[in-house]
Amino acid sequence: MSADSSSLDRKHSGWSGRFSEPVAEFVLRYTASVGFDQRLALADIEGSLAHAAMLARVGVLSSGDLADIERGLAMIRGEIERGEFDWQLALEDVHLNIERRLTELVGEAGKRLHTGRSRNDQVATDVRLWLRAEIDRIGDALGSMQRALVEQAAAHVDTVMPGFTHLQVAQPVSFGHHLLAYVEMLERDRERMLDARRRVNRLPLGAAALAGTTFPIDRAFVADRLGFEALCENSLDAVSDRDFAVEFVAAAALVMTHVSRLAEELVLWMSPRYGFVRLPDRFTTGSSIMPQKRNPDVPELARGKTGRVVGHLTALLVLMKGQPLAYNKDNQEDKEPLFDTVDTVLDTLRAFSEMIPGIEVDSAEMRRAAEDGFSTATDLADYLVKKGLPFRDAHEAVAKAVRRAAERGCDLAALPLAELQELAPQVDAGVFDRLTLAGSLAARDHVGGTSPRQVREQVARWRDRLDKR
Ligand code: ARG
Repeated sequence: MSADSSSLDRKHSGWSGRFSEPVAEFVLRYTASVGFDQRLALADIEGSLAHAAMLARVGVLSSGDLADIERGLAMIRGEIERGEFDWQLALEDVHLNIERRLTELVGEAGKRLHTGRSRNDQVATDVRLWLRAEIDRIGDALGSMQRALVEQAAAHVDTVMPGFTHLQVAQPVSFGHHLLAYVEMLERDRERMLDARRRVNRLPLGAAALAGTTFPIDRAFVADRLGFEALCENSLDAVSDRDFAVEFVAAAALVMTHVSRLAEELVLWMSPRYGFVRLPDRFTTGSSIMPQKRNPDVPELARGKTGRVVGHLTALLVLMKGQPLAYNKDNQEDKEPLFDTVDTVLDTLRAFSEMIPGIEVDSAEMRRAAEDGFSTATDLADYLVKKGLPFRDAHEAVAKAVRRAAERGCDLAALPLAELQELAPQVDAGVFDRLTLAGSLAARDHVGGTSPRQVREQVARWRDRLDKR
């Protein structure tokens, strides 16, 4: 990007007329956004094409001027795509850079493009166009991660792991069931993204600086051309609303939070203390000093990067809270948090979508852990209740049984029948079927339960839904 002293001259900018001295170089750097908002360039061109077409349609722009503008913007698009565009800091932002280049290329017509428009409604339009496309990519990326989870779940319907509460072994669950919990979370994330998209997909253009314009514009035409579902119906709100960005980042923060929970579990499961899974080597690193280490860097980084997205949400909320109507330059600060949120979420979803199929499960280790913590104690209590004992009494009897098993250093299922009968005379030999891990799982056989039959059905439902997208 060039910023030589001549380029600091205001006459290069779109607003030189009223000023008598150049902007201080530092102020220029402080206020310019072109270093990052050039990312909006293609959306900016798309918006300008629609605006120009509308101006021509309502008779504000001649068809010759429109043709020049279309030709010039096509050339600029090519320059940008080939990386040949000369972005100038002195031209402040993406909008003035493109407009200036257009005028260089096509002359007069370029100077007419900004008729009935302001950078305030222009930038709001650009960000919405850009974000709409990114939301669609994130929706697809969420789908890919869901698919990866569903296929791992399908492979592990019958793999038993300890389910935890308070990180204490609670009840045995199917590892497939555990993975499908994340598929549910990501589905809600997708729904939230699609819902936010509806409010992103409204057209601010036409609000001009803040009050609308004196030209006989046709906003519906522009909306239609750009694929917006509706118009922003109040010009002051149109140029100053960034709710759509806040909402999007909030939805993204939840995506990251969900991925971060899985990341945390992978880190725990990979630790030799658990030993439940191995991650593919390409997703782990070694230590420069401790040769024995395999570090789960990708999950750890995902967990860490969640912090920046949550931070971006805070940044945007604080950005908005003190702003009087209508547009203020503060709004320029919406872009970096938005861009970084999109990049972080897309990279993270990609990393997980690629990593999940490679997770290797040590099902023997999982099973051992599930057997360790008296995880079928609730099954014993339920058994006693079915034999007529009130649940509280059953709970008490099982607590004693657990204590005895702990003293003997064995599992509940290994206690002699006579000993169980001492605690609750209702017990018969049928009890042992209930105390196995497989028996415990199979017994939870209702929608949402962890029985392999139900988990298989969950897998089938998800495959069906994901295939239909
Ligand atoms: N670069 C500005 C932004 O991102 C564009 C709008 C500038 N408008 C203005 N009145 N200075 O918000």
